[in-house]
Amino acid sequence: MAKVLIIYSTTDGHTRSICERLQGIIEGLDQSVDVLWMTEHADVDITQYDKVVVGASIRYGKHQPQVFDFIRRNHATLDSRPNAFFTVNVVARKPEKNTPATNPYMQKFLPKIDWQPQHLAVFAGRLDFPKYSYFDRQMIRLIMWMTKGPTAPDTVVEFTDWDKVEEFGRTIAAM
Ligand SMILES: Cc1cc2nc3c(=O)[nH]c(=O)nc-3n(C[C@H](O)[C@H](O)[C@H](O)COP(=O)(O)O)c2cc1C
Repeated sequence: MAKVLIIYSTTDGHTRSICERLQGIIEGLDQSVDVLWMTEHADVDITQYDKVVVGASIRYGKHQPQVFDFIRRNHATLDSRPNAFFTVNVVARKPEKNTPATNPYMQKFLPKIDWQPQHLAVFAGRLDFPKYSYFDRQMIRLIMWMTKGPTAPDTVVEFTDWDKVEEFGRTIAAM
């Protein structure tokens, strides 16, 4: 039975929800999956796994520094087995920015890492304005106003296309 690692970075937990949906799909296809939070498991021995998937969300235009560290430390091992990367952001709610080729964060990210992931995915994220600090709420409302998204202070909205997540789960199972 193939052993799959899905390791993710998150701020508000939505990337973890996506990982758990991937896990459900892959386990349903008879492979074992560990879902680990990078913040707690940055030193995981990835040689223990047959396949490795890295997932990361965007905040203020960037993936977390720990994602770059993790990839730098592991890129040779990542290259030696089937692997994939996905990013989560709200720009991807726009149809013209929701593929690896058209998402600006994916395009900015790839040249900054040594690893060339075999499979890529972009998922639209979630907004939960009441949950954020005052500063973050005002900032994200401003970003949404500038990009023609929702701005009401009580906005809670999930843009994620779960069918696309499930399709990526099947891709991981097949790789
Ligand atoms: C304070 C803040 C800043 C954000 N900045 C961006 C951004 O610059 N670009 C973007 O596309 N999404 C941005 N987002 C949206 C997040 O990527 C989205 O909420 C995602 O679902 C977060 O995933 P996580 O819960 O796994 O961290 C931001 C969200 C917050 C709360």
